[in-house]
Amino acid sequence: MDKERRIILTGFMGVGKSTIARFLASLLDCKKIDLDIFIEQNEQMRIAEIIKSAGEAHYRRIETENLRRVLICDEAQIIALGGGAWTIEENRRLIKERDFTTVWLESSFEHCWRNIRQSKRERPLAVNKQIAAKLFDERQRFYCLADWHFVIKPELTSFEIARKIAEEVFSMRF
Ligand code: S3P
Repeated sequence: MDKERRIILTGFMGVGKSTIARFLASLLDCKKIDLDIFIEQNEQMRIAEIIKSAGEAHYRRIETENLRRVLICDEAQIIALGGGAWTIEENRRLIKERDFTTVWLESSFEHCWRNIRQSKRERPLAVNKQIAAKLFDERQRFYCLADWHFVIKPELTSFEIARKIAEEVFSMRF
């Protein structure tokens, strides 16, 4: 098993990055950090509140600062990003410098939108389907810069997806 490998999970809102990161960390018996949670704890504020009160550009600066902190702490082997983090050039540069393997959880817009709608989490950048779909289309060219592309089939559970990533990215045998 490739124990040393450190990975970043990226992909659109609602694709399941946080849940998959949690299962993956338990399968690999390693630590994970969820960047969104890290930001909220550190800033003592909900991300939705930051975006609504100070705007997206301000939030992106906060996100990059926090990403920098997360990347230098060697504790976490798995990091789940927020859906916009990987679209920022500076963030991609920081991630590459730290030698992470990036995994894009790729799925259809409909799959993400279903999860966004069902989730209690407030997402100010996806307030309606049309806005979210536009963002989804605009971001594909950034997501596809990730090292690995993992197509999320809707019939698979988050645990099964985590297992597949463990097998394929970490050469783990079950
Ligand atoms: C965002 C996604 C969110 C969160 C913020 C911005 C985005 O995270 O970071 O609301 O720009 O796509 P999730 O992908 O976990 O929803």
